[in-house]
Amino acid sequence: MSVQIDLSSDVAVVTGGGSGIGEGIAMLLAEAGAKVAIADLSADAAKSVAEQITGKGGTAIGVELNIADEESVRQGLASVREQLGPVSVLVNNAATWTIKKFADTTAEETQRVIDVTLIGTINMMRGALPDLLETQGRIVNIASDSARTGEHSMSVYAAAKAGVIAVTKSLALEVGRKGVRANAVAPGTTVTPGSSAFIEQVGGADKLARAYPLGRLGSPDDIAGAVLFLASPLSAWITGQVLSVSGGYTMV
Ligand SMILES: NC(=O)c1ccc[n+]([C@@H]2O[C@H](COP(=O)([O-])OP(=O)(O)OC[C@H]3O[C@@H](n4cnc5c(N)ncnc54)[C@H](O)[C@@H]3O)[C@@H](O)[C@H]2O)c1
Repeated sequence: MSVQIDLSSDVAVVTGGGSGIGEGIAMLLAEAGAKVAIADLSADAAKSVAEQITGKGGTAIGVELNIADEESVRQGLASVREQLGPVSVLVNNAATWTIKKFADTTAEETQRVIDVTLIGTINMMRGALPDLLETQGRIVNIASDSARTGEHSMSVYAAAKAGVIAVTKSLALEVGRKGVRANAVAPGTTVTPGSSAFIEQVGGADKLARAYPLGRLGSPDDIAGAVLFLASPLSAWITGQVLSVSGGYTMV
């Protein structure tokens, strides 16, 4: 006997799929058979990940898209529908942050972090909702444990991620009876291009890993496994939840 996760009838969009955690998610969803759109601010990064997938025999496209810009989201999603079909799995992974004490964070930086990390996620959810209702789709939002524990020098980011968790739960309430599920994954520190400055600032990966019950930091594959589970029928009775994927660092 064997259990297989088969997403071959799914069209997945992964924002920020051109790097780090998003790249790992895009690769794993493609391995499970999904057609994957890598939606990223960087057209080159999106194209390169899409080519990795097609090189292995999967189906993927790169889509240049800025989640903070509603018109860009509208055009990007229209392009996905045209090339792959209606979206059935939406992974909101793109985000931005600053590593600065609260008192040093400017109004402009605050606005940018909220615009991308929170409003960008909402833009994608709003833009893809008609498709998700049509396909009985699933949303997996990448939050952060910082939203639940607080994070030194990342206060606005933590606040934006708390908003991501709240909108995930609220939408899950509204669309559950229509067959759509929405959950969030909250990663602990995961080694990616985007986290290198943070890891450096807190004294390096080895030092940080000592605080983790499982003794190491995360990899994009660790986060991707949880996303695949929440996108698949194995989680059919799970919605409105936040799954911490953090080697036991956060137990809430
Ligand atoms: N790495 C960690 O330790 C960690 C921990 C907790 C949560 N997270 C979350 O995981 C997600 C991915 O983080 P990562 O470390 O892989 O980041 P990363 O910086 O390596 O990759 C982020 C990707 O998002 C894209 N992007 C940024 N702004 C965008 C926008 N406006 N529109 C479209 N694409 C945009 C970038 O071009 C990049 O390809 C983020 O939501 C982050 O908050 C990461």
